[in-house]
Amino acid sequence: MGFVVVPTVQIYTFILFLLIHSTSGLDGYDEYRRNVSMELNPGLKKPSTGAGLVHVRAVGSDDTLHFLLCSHEAPALMLVHTNSSSSAVHIDWEAFLNGNYSGSLKVVPESSVQFSSALVFTRLWEYDDVNDTADPEHLTPSSFFPPYELQDFSWDDLNTTINLTNHSVTLCGRNSSTSFRNGSLCLAFSAFGSKGRGAVWPGLLHNANSSQLRIWLDNVSPRSNQSRFALELQSVSSAAQRGHVDVLKSIDDEYTPSIFKVSQWVSSPSNASSAVLGYTQWKPVAYRTAQPKFEDATPCRHSNPVLVSQLPPSGWVQAFFRDGQQTSALNITFSIAGDPFYNVTNYLSWSILVGLGPPPLDSFSPLVLTIMAVGLGTPLALILFGGAGACIFKKGQHPQGYEPIN
Ligand SMILES: *[C@@H]1O[C@H](CO)[C@@H](O)[C@H](O)[C@H]1NC(C)=O
Ligand SMILES: *[C@@H]1O[C@H](CO)[C@@H](O)[C@H](O)[C@H]1NC(C)=O
Ligand SMILES: *[C@@H]1O[C@H](CO)[C@@H](O)[C@H](O)[C@H]1NC(C)=O
Ligand SMILES: *[C@@H]1O[C@H](CO)[C@@H](O)[C@H](O)[C@H]1NC(C)=O
Ligand SMILES: *[C@@H]1O[C@H](CO)[C@@H](O)[C@H](O)[C@H]1NC(C)=O
Ligand SMILES: *[C@@H]1O[C@H](CO)[C@@H](O)[C@H](O)[C@H]1NC(C)=O
Ligand SMILES: *[C@@H]1O[C@H](CO)[C@@H](O)[C@H](O)[C@H]1NC(C)=O
Ligand SMILES: *[C@@H]1O[C@H](CO)[C@@H](O)[C@H](O)[C@H]1NC(C)=O
Ligand SMILES: *[C@@H]1O[C@H](CO)[C@@H](O)[C@H](O)[C@H]1NC(C)=O
Ligand SMILES: *[C@@H]1O[C@H](CO)[C@@H](O)[C@H](O)[C@H]1NC(C)=O
Ligand SMILES: *[C@@H]1O[C@H](CO)[C@@H](O)[C@H](O)[C@H]1NC(C)=O
Ligand SMILES: *[C@@H]1O[C@H](CO)[C@@H](O)[C@H](O)[C@H]1NC(C)=O
Repeated sequence: MGFVVVPTVQIYTFILFLLIHSTSGLDGYDEYRRNVSMELNPGLKKPSTGAGLVHVRAVGSDDTLHFLLCSHEAPALMLVHTNSSSSAVHIDWEAFLNGNYSGSLKVVPESSVQFSSALVFTRLWEYDDVNDTADPEHLTPSSFFPPYELQDFSWDDLNTTINLTNHSVTLCGRNSSTSFRNGSLCLAFSAFGSKGRGAVWPGLLHNANSSQLRIWLDNVSPRSNQSRFALELQSVSSAAQRGHVDVLKSIDDEYTPSIFKVSQWVSSPSNASSAVLGYTQWKPVAYRTAQPKFEDATPCRHSNPVLVSQLPPSGWVQAFFRDGQQTSALNITFSIAGDPFYNVTNYLSWSILVGLGPPPLDSFSPLVLTIMAVGLGTPLALILFGGAGACIFKKGQHPQGYEPIN
């Protein structure tokens, strides 16, 4: 029996370890909490259209994380980390509204700023995928329609969708003088004070140092029947941005079925490239409906980051970052060869996480662990207890077997 008992106990101990590991956040690292508050247009006296800014202040034990969702020109999400729990955003609205962007947005005291970054959504590319290759790198330039410049979009007022209770806001925009008239490009932003997971696929894991954006493209009139889309992102960072996107193995579970990878684009201090200061993380999947089913998933790919010689077209990013700060750009391409074209559902959604420090990493979910425990443990338990039961049964039989002789 010994050889059965030992592995069974080991497997159960292992599973118990994984269970505790994944449900209790092991070393308290993931338990970091922040007090989150949200405000619209901090310090603005009289309402003005077209310059919206949502500020999230996430205060930790001795630091503050500021997130800024900006709707002026190209939409952007900025992150500023300070080593003070009383740092604040200071905006010179008069200068900004007069177009004198540079220096009009500050986080004070300026000496407390440790790290800052911005992610800007600059262009939406559309191409006619006549040969169904879904590979923009191998397309002729004539397959591309003129890109939608997101800096030319008109963005809805942020005050209509802001929710100060759950720290979320949705920004939608369109351009009425193009075929984007009836469609919309939307960004749903959420900030978090503690760890958790997105409610809808891809169910990204977040912590108190991250915020999430879900981006979707709804009801755009495609300019061809075989249209596919790609989104261009530009990123500015106070630290060194990695020249490639890291693609790591991930777990296929009920949160993101059939996706085995997670992609992240990180910034590191220039003297220690293994330390991570900030990141943009995503699962390489998009969904073709608003309430996705398994078959609505479609893979996405990224191009390699390239350097851009000027700051991205976002007034607020130009207000905070100085000229000469390094900017990188990449394209995210939705769909692969053989997947339905945009015209079939007229919808695409994609989610990302933007945050400070090392990106969250998935571990086995409680459901998967339970399945593993039942799947691996039960047969062995049956052998073990079945064997033990047979022994007891045999032992019990012995005295009775001798009784008639007495
Ligand atoms: C969040 O950031 C704070 C401050 O840098 C750090 O102490 C903490 O460990 C981080 N927590 C997580 C889960 O990354
Ligand atoms: C968050 O706020 C509560 C109540 O105001 C306070 O007790 C707690 O210390 C704060 N936590 C942090 C990390 O600032
Ligand atoms: C822009 O702002 C700077 C510093 O705040 C100021 O010196 C300059 O006069 C302003 N320019 C204009 C055109 O308002
Ligand atoms: C915050 O960081 C600055 C340098 O960036 C340093 O001079 C200052 O002492 C730090 N403050 C605290 C409270 O750690
Ligand atoms: C489509 O395939 C044909 C035949 O292989 C080729 O001649 C043509 O250039 C391709 N078109 C595009 C846009 O790649
Ligand atoms: C739409 O885009 C065009 C250029 O493609 C630009 O000239 C125009 O101002 C934009 N219109 C609106 C309402 O955003
Ligand atoms: C939002 O702000 C605009 C002005 O920018 C104002 O006209 C509108 O009434 C506001 N809407 C809400 C719901 O507060
Ligand atoms: C904000 O979100 C909370 C929680 O999701 C919800 O109960 C509340 O109704 C929302 N408020 C508005 C104005 O939508
Ligand atoms: C917050 O509330 C809004 C409604 O105001 C809802 O649409 C959104 O899904 C909620 N977000 C989260 C993260 O709960
Ligand atoms: C927008 O919708 C209207 C009404 O459904 C339609 O007549 C028009 O052609 C559409 N415009 C575009 C650019 O698709
Ligand atoms: C979408 O385009 C495909 C390929 O040209 C065509 O066969 C199909 O009818 C179109 N679907 C819709 C809903 O327009
Ligand atoms: C994105 O793709 C378009 C079309 O292939 C290309 O012109 C553009 O340079 C790409 N942008 C980046 C940042 O790679």
